[in-house]
Amino acid sequence: SNRLLSTSKVLQKQVQNVTIIGAGLMGSGIAQVSAQSKLNVVLVDQNDAALQKATKGIHSSLARVAKKKFAEDAAAQNKFVEGTTKYIKTTTNINEGVKDADLVIEAIVENIDVKRKLFAELEKNVKSDAILTTNTSSLKLSDIGLNLKNKQNFGGLHFFNPVPMMKLLEVVRHAETSDDTFKTLNDYGKAIGKTTVACKDTPGFIVNRLLVPYMFEALRMVERGDATMEDVDIAMKLGAGYPMGPFELTDYVGLDTSKFIMDGWHKAYPNEPLFKPSDLLSKKVAEGKLGRKSGEGFYKYT
Ligand code: CAA
Ligand code: NAD
Repeated sequence: SNRLLSTSKVLQKQVQNVTIIGAGLMGSGIAQVSAQSKLNVVLVDQNDAALQKATKGIHSSLARVAKKKFAEDAAAQNKFVEGTTKYIKTTTNINEGVKDADLVIEAIVENIDVKRKLFAELEKNVKSDAILTTNTSSLKLSDIGLNLKNKQNFGGLHFFNPVPMMKLLEVVRHAETSDDTFKTLNDYGKAIGKTTVACKDTPGFIVNRLLVPYMFEALRMVERGDATMEDVDIAMKLGAGYPMGPFELTDYVGLDTSKFIMDGWHKAYPNEPLFKPSDLLSKKVAEGKLGRKSGEGFYKYT
């Protein structure tokens, strides 16, 4: 039995049960791709309305995926959508939702205080060997996990919007993430069909360290009156080959989330002019114009 024990010890931990906290744009996409790979998913949010909206969104996204996968076969499309949906359970009870999880992925608001509070609560309710991760866009893991007792089982899984379409997953390790945890997170990424890259615990990791300053500089350009928003978007699509211009992209990401990123980086780097509050952005957020998800941001969506 000693031999058995030592064999099982070296066996890599397999993720079967994934719990996702936050059922917004990102959480619903992460739930969807995990379910598509036949993992048992629990999706958690604060209220039923958010969960209902997420369930509807997942359903229509799955229908789009199915249409491509099974072009002329309506029955196969249906089977795929219904079959995948069966892997997803929803709940507003966080403690209940995380108790069987092998892997927890946090995708709530981009606010350090709210995230820290959630992680302190999570650690009390998960299995002792569960891996805890954050999908943060801009914050440092060492800040989010400051009060965690078990920092070895904590890492980052940074997805891209729209999750079902974007092939990249940034796997982040902070100073104390164990090799085992890092390996399991990479295996999970491969299991859900993503290409993974290794990131250190630096603000914005790889993609957002380059992409977010570009999006902010576009705001500054329009605030200075150097160009119109429409022209900036046309220019970057036709002149740089981007699928969306920076304003279309900010609408896609969410103006509230973009402002959270800007505010957080302004606090961390108070002398950097790029991160100073943007009137253009703040005004829209104050008006509830949060981008595509609310029906209007820089542009209107019907
Ligand atoms: N679910 C399923 N399928 C989807 C989908 C979704 N949510 N969104 C798009 N698709 C698929 C569909 O199959 C669609 O075809 P149908 O309309 O026939 O169903 C196909 O993609 C093409 O989509 P569209 O014709 O609507 O538009 P498109 O060709 O412009 O592609 C896009 C959409 C893939 C989103 C593309 O515009 C794009 O790549 N945009 C840039 C996205 C980007 O940069 N994301 C990163 C944001 S930053 C981030 O995420 C990090 C952060 O921390 C903030
Ligand atoms: P969102 O606003 O669409 O959704 C956030 C969800 O979290 C909401 O449904 C809200 O009700 C829920 N929530 C908030 N606090 C909660 C709590 N304490 N417990 C449970 N649920 C809670 O936001 P999003 O765009 O999905 O972003 C989520 C996270 O993912 C953020 O950290 C963001 O920076 C990151 N991210 C966003 C994008 C993007 O393009 N939008 C891309 C990558 C990463």
